[in-house]
Amino acid sequence: MHCPLQESATRAPGTNGSAEVQMCQAIYPCHANHRGELSAGQLLKWIDSTACLTAERHAGMSCVTASVDDIQFEETARVGQIINITARVNRAFNTSMEVGVKVAVQDTFTSVQKRVCVAFSTYVAKPVGGQKVNLNPVRLQLEQDFLEYSLAAERRRIRLCNEDALKNLMAESQLPDDIAQSKENDEISTDYTHVQSIELVLPPHGNHHGNTFGGQIMAWMETVATIAASRLCRAYPTLKSVDMFKFRGPSTVGDRLVFNAIVNNTFQKNVEVGVRVEAYNCEEWTHGKGRHINSAFLIYDAINDQEERILFPRVKPTTKDSLRRYLGAIARRRIRLARKYILSGKEENPLSDPWDRSNQTYLSYNNVATLTFLAAKQGWEMTSTANNIKIFAHEEDNNILSVKVEMQARVSADHAFSLLSDLNFRKIWDSHYLSCEFIEDVNEEDKIYHIICPPVNGEKLRDFVVLMSRRHPCKDGDPYVIAVRSVTLTAVPPSPQYSRSEILCAGFMIYSAGKESCKVCYYNQITSGVLPYFAGNLGGWSTSIEDTACSCVKFLETTEVDSASL
Ligand code: COA
Ligand code: ADP
Repeated sequence: MHCPLQESATRAPGTNGSAEVQMCQAIYPCHANHRGELSAGQLLKWIDSTACLTAERHAGMSCVTASVDDIQFEETARVGQIINITARVNRAFNTSMEVGVKVAVQDTFTSVQKRVCVAFSTYVAKPVGGQKVNLNPVRLQLEQDFLEYSLAAERRRIRLCNEDALKNLMAESQLPDDIAQSKENDEISTDYTHVQSIELVLPPHGNHHGNTFGGQIMAWMETVATIAASRLCRAYPTLKSVDMFKFRGPSTVGDRLVFNAIVNNTFQKNVEVGVRVEAYNCEEWTHGKGRHINSAFLIYDAINDQEERILFPRVKPTTKDSLRRYLGAIARRRIRLARKYILSGKEENPLSDPWDRSNQTYLSYNNVATLTFLAAKQGWEMTSTANNIKIFAHEEDNNILSVKVEMQARVSADHAFSLLSDLNFRKIWDSHYLSCEFIEDVNEEDKIYHIICPPVNGEKLRDFVVLMSRRHPCKDGDPYVIAVRSVTLTAVPPSPQYSRSEILCAGFMIYSAGKESCKVCYYNQITSGVLPYFAGNLGGWSTSIEDTACSCVKFLETTEVDSASL
């Protein structure tokens, strides 16, 4: 994903590609909420119309919305500003095609443009008569077109396995211990956030075949979801993101659409609201049997009078359905985070500082301090818990994702510290380490290693040059710290054999829990270099983190410190 403004600068006039469509809209009060901000529902309608017209221009026939990937809203647009939407077909598969949509808001007075969001929707061509078509490939012109073309295949893979990924995560999910065991009433039920609403699909809501526009349905869903969220926060919620959703079946002019929305879960400063839509025609209505045409999950935050983000109360599931939805929200959050970071293709500036004796104290301090700050951050959200292993994610406003893995081991903290702070042992229990060569013994507490990790998805082997800084607790109750970060070392330059990668902040905090027991917390602030090793797990199609954590606990519990050897 990249800024739409840059691309329009590089695409020569008149060479827009056969399937690029632009829409420009002035924002009037009728498009906005009471605060003068463009309503998300209206924006979703414009996005869907532009994308649908783009798909139809490429296909040369009528198309329907099959699905919309997660959308993150970055900038708020206001009355008086202008919305610029650019959509193009990134890739045509067989009957379906991916349309990439870029939305920017332009200030009328300054002409400055800012990105509002990027969306990817899939449309399926529907020829009259219903036979299957084989769509023509798209014409690729710019380097960016080729990039989006190949990424589209990757996004399609993720899109089509979305339901399986969710099922996998749901199968292993459990109610967090503190919620399950809490007897007090500090968590609240979400029952009173339930909203039901009905709409009659009229001709302006449909295309020329009488099919309801996907964008119109999304706009109605957003309205009921906003009301459900406002009941919990008693403030005006703002839509921050929309989870990937799929149009399960068509609806047509004349249908009655019934929307049911309820808050599923809260995550400190945001809340997930789910909406289910059922369609009835006149006859079905009288028999009360609807067609389930869509379900969507929308994430809101809300601000108070001081313009600070509100902390949402924790909710407690009270019925079987609400428990399923509560756990579903945790799993979806994890998948959403993974998709956001996997697909962002974020390029980073070099993260490592050069290592030399003169900055040794600074780097070593910085290594430990960064990990200590990361561990102390507020806002860690549990994404899974199984076999005594808990995984948490932490997302910062500047799009930095960190992961924490919490394990319990039946050994003393000192024992765990001795074994984990010697990175030479790491490959015994961590299959992500192929080898670890000891490079420099800076002092008793700081060491430099060269680590080689296995290839992912047919890429090259990756290597890392890291500084490991270990600290004993200063006083009782303090954790043992093992901090790891990349450094640049002239003695180990990048080699063509490996893809040199970097670690920004990783390591262990080990807390004593009695003589023969401790809690080990592993942290990693995800960089593009380590993301491939976490992606499958965060996305729900691999259990590599849990497996590695189990293996770590087993290693700690079965290895004597003195006898540990390679
Ligand atoms: N996301 C993206 N693409 C999807 C998808 C999803 N969730 N589900 C199916 N598809 C794609 C398939 O990959 C296939 O693509 P290909 O032909 O390029 O390989 C294509 O859709 C058809 O798949 P198929 O399995 O034959 O179709 P289906 O029976 O699952 O029907 C729809 C798919 C979208 C046509 C059908 O679910 C539908 O009509 N939905 C309602 C669409 C609509 O009316 N939208 C407007 C709002 S109501
Ligand atoms: P699930 O219940 O497994 O999440 P559904 O597709 O049935 O899947 O529903 C999607 C979401 O719509 C739910 O998570 C919930 O937030 C909301 N929802 C569904 N049914 C109702 C209902 N009867 N009342 C209120 N909200 C509902």
